[in-house]
Amino acid sequence: MAVDVALIRTKDVCKAYRSEVETVWAARDVDFSARPGEFVCIYGASGSGKSTLLNLLAGLDLADTGEIRVGGVDVGAANERQRAELRLRTVGVVFQDHRLIQEFTAAENVALPLEARGLSTAQAREEALRQLARVGLAGLEDRLPRQLSGGQRQRVGVARALTGQRAVLLADEPTGALDSAATGELFQLIRKLCDEGVLAVVCSHDPRCRDYADTVYEVVDGRLETRS
Ligand SMILES: Nc1ncnc2c1ncn2[C@@H]1O[C@H](COP(=O)(O)OP(=O)(O)O)[C@@H](O)[C@H]1O
Ligand SMILES: [Mg+2]
Repeated sequence: MAVDVALIRTKDVCKAYRSEVETVWAARDVDFSARPGEFVCIYGASGSGKSTLLNLLAGLDLADTGEIRVGGVDVGAANERQRAELRLRTVGVVFQDHRLIQEFTAAENVALPLEARGLSTAQAREEALRQLARVGLAGLEDRLPRQLSGGQRQRVGVARALTGQRAVLLADEPTGALDSAATGELFQLIRKLCDEGVLAVVCSHDPRCRDYADTVYEVVDGRLETRS
């Protein structure tokens, strides 16, 4: 019997934005699957449909038609609470802006989703420190976001996205606000996390993302085209 090892699987996913004047097809017949440990780069020009696809995978938005399964959950059939649960347990999301809480230290930011899952403050801090060390920030856990560089802040965002053994990292232009050196370092970090078993889907218009990925898709007008 064949075992389905895909952690993400989509089938014929379509999504349109409709207004009185026009209909924009931002996702067309998107069909792909990805496995634990895989670094998937979704590459494409601005407006091609990258964020739309990522938001659908994260359950932050719903497809018009087609099916999306993430970690065994049928995202389209899940209600809002179940989709929030999916993000708390299985899928972590990182955006171009780090979205950290400015008044919280790095460790407190990373601990937040764990406390939401019912861990004690001490347990949550311990796990937060472990995740921060994993992204190369050991020793910086008590700094506030403004006391960190842009690249370090994104690493905190990655640590927060992965706390609590979440297996899927979804990143939307994670290097969009970073300089060239920090961009390479962040892609390298994501590569390392995938080598440890994380599945990462990274949307980027930075061509360098492709060099670190196992699988590259180009999005053109909402359609995924295989590049490797
Ligand atoms: N909320 C929205 N309402 C209407 N059109 C949208 C909305 N979000 C995205 N679009 C359109 O859908 C297309 C894909 O957008 P997006 O997924 O944001 O692309 P990318 O992330 O690759 O820049 C673009 O033409 C964009 O203008
Ligand atoms: Mg985008």
